[in-house]
Amino acid sequence: MRISVIGCGYLGAVHASAMAELGHDVIGIDVDEGKIAALAAGRPPFFEPGLPEILTSATATGRLRFSTDLADAADAEVHFVAVGTPQAADTHAADLRYVDAAFTSLLPHLADGALVVGKSTVPVGTAARLAALIAREAPGARLAWNPEFLREGYAVKDTLEPDRLVYGVAAGEQGMAAASVLDQVYRAALEAGTPRIVTDYATAELVKVAANAFLATKISFINAMSEIADVTGADVTALADAIGHDARIGRRFLNAGVGFGGGCLPKDIRAFTARADELGRGDSLAFLKEVDTINLRQRQRVVDLAVDALDGSVFRKKVAVLGVTFKPESDDVRDSPALDVAVTLKGLGADVVATDPEGIENARLRHPQLDYTSSAREALRDADLVVLVTEWREYRALDPEHTAGLVRGRRIIDGRNVLDPVAWRAAGWAYRGIGRP
Ligand code: UGA
Repeated sequence: MRISVIGCGYLGAVHASAMAELGHDVIGIDVDEGKIAALAAGRPPFFEPGLPEILTSATATGRLRFSTDLADAADAEVHFVAVGTPQAADTHAADLRYVDAAFTSLLPHLADGALVVGKSTVPVGTAARLAALIAREAPGARLAWNPEFLREGYAVKDTLEPDRLVYGVAAGEQGMAAASVLDQVYRAALEAGTPRIVTDYATAELVKVAANAFLATKISFINAMSEIADVTGADVTALADAIGHDARIGRRFLNAGVGFGGGCLPKDIRAFTARADELGRGDSLAFLKEVDTINLRQRQRVVDLAVDALDGSVFRKKVAVLGVTFKPESDDVRDSPALDVAVTLKGLGADVVATDPEGIENARLRHPQLDYTSSAREALRDADLVVLVTEWREYRALDPEHTAGLVRGRRIIDGRNVLDPVAWRAAGWAYRGIGRP
């Protein structure tokens, strides 16, 4: 099919490349010339495992092109809108200016029979509003809402092999027609047995934020348990293993630590809460405010542990911060707990040296005041304290004996509970995890 993808960020660039990989004829559109030039040259403007490979192979076949001009998308049968919906500057609500701008600019280019597919995460009610706009301004075109559930770090796999497809469509025949167009787009996944749920706009919008709200709640739940574990001498990791064996609960997303961050979970739960307030149902989602509060408390908790480990003051102490991205296998530092911890420690007067395999460039743009090194060895050299806040494989694999030879003081805060306390203590380290005795 002829497909356009409007917005080539983490979501759109992967979606465009994956659709071309599946054999579709794809044009990726973005207003950022630098981004489009990089993508056209086969260079993703961000780190995502597997993306360079499919981007290069698809651009080489000619099935994937990029442009800053929406007119180049005019002959597409399906237009995916994948622009960002960040948190508004002054409220917790989502900022819809990019979505609105994308739709407004797309309208004059919509051919009769074209299908516009919203992928961006939006407040419930947005799709109905945009469907009315299309009906008024481009009556031959249709709208579907098709939320995306990809995880950074696994984005290519999640797009090629999604665990479910959700189509929000209009009622009646129009909606059925939209669903069958999406079936053609996702034929490969459907043939592989991917479950598909066809529903109304509001449900599709809600599925997305409900999923992220549930995941965020799961993480804050285990972090709350870790706070109780801390004061009782219990072990939150064993607790998570034990409750995780109950298939109704499940072990995944029960890792206590410095908490969740990134461009999705934090802003999505805030936007969801703000939308519920607007709908007069603030009480229904009041618990998500607590989920947010517990989550942010974890960052302070790691900072407090650091201060404690250095006997009450980090002033002029060298602190090696391992990790700045919000999770491994990504260069994304948006709302990163790791970077927040590094910045707070620096603010307390510590000589912070932060390291990360992929995130330094983005971190430096936001926080140029920090010292960075791409070498973990360099960060660790003569450190008085080590703080592990992003669980990159190379930090999980650190050898306590060898690391002891690099640092000045054998003190480590394991902000992700990924190290073996027994092995580290045996090598003479003062080890502190989150909710672990
Ligand atoms: C999340 C969802 O998992 C995706 O399904 C969704 O599509 C995406 O948001 C989105 O809305 O676009 P992502 O932000 O890539 O994906 O990251 P996650 O893997 O969900 O991790 C989020 C944060 O939770 C990370 O900071 C991670 O370190 C933290 N986390 C995760 C924990 O602290 N504990 C856990 O047990 C799991």
